[in-house]
Amino acid sequence: NIELSKQKILNKAYVQPQVDSTQLLARSIINEEHDDFVVLSDEQTKGRGRFNREWSSIKGKGLWMSIVLKPHIPIHKMSTFNLFISLAIQEVVEKHYQINSKIKWPNDIYVGEQKLCGFLTEMIADTDGVNAIICGIGFNLNQTREEFDKVGQHRATSLLIEHGSTIDPYQFLKYLIEAIEKRYNQFLVSPFSEIKDTYKSKSMIWNRTLNYTEGNKKVKGRAIDIQDNGFLTVISEDGEIYQFMSADIDI
Ligand code: BTN
Repeated sequence: NIELSKQKILNKAYVQPQVDSTQLLARSIINEEHDDFVVLSDEQTKGRGRFNREWSSIKGKGLWMSIVLKPHIPIHKMSTFNLFISLAIQEVVEKHYQINSKIKWPNDIYVGEQKLCGFLTEMIADTDGVNAIICGIGFNLNQTREEFDKVGQHRATSLLIEHGSTIDPYQFLKYLIEAIEKRYNQFLVSPFSEIKDTYKSKSMIWNRTLNYTEGNKKVKGRAIDIQDNGFLTVISEDGEIYQFMSADIDI
């Protein structure tokens, strides 16, 4: 039984012991719900990450959650949504668990070279603007190193591994919702430029040559800046400048 009601926006939670994917369940109830809400599950049988990759969601070990938001904003404003959300998640890890985590643009959180959390944002929109945002967050909480290694996730980490003791998922959830609400409210009224310096200082991709892929655009290069619309500027090895909206970055 989760009490989120002290929070301002997300006071309704659907909690299921098992789902195919919280993202799919969220989509199926979106029309019945007028307000914003979250969907949570202990276990997903068909968790999906970006690019439709399989997302391993071991029972009871992580936070598998989809947040549905219904803002009244034009579609172009969505280009910076992920940046506000990344910062919210990064802040929870740093502030409440004293872990030095970094954002991997556009939507992962890492500790060192290992992934702690990934999220993806889908939206339902028409010519009038955005009708709904469905933000799916997969956060590794209580997996052990052995559990990750057994399923071949050598480049994943959990809060348990980094923090050294078992994480209370409800406490974590409250911190996360609180942080996301704060940054989401800021996103609605403020431009990205307001958080840009903070965001950049929490980002891990500077000063390294990485492989960027977006559709059939493939670039090996170095990120040098983020634009006010959230696009990443990358300079390739042969000195050309590219802008990415939401690339897959190999690290
Ligand atoms: C990624 O790193 O590629 C994004 C991972 C997103 C996983 C979450 S878990 C809750 C929600 N349901 C899903 O099927 N996916 C997202």
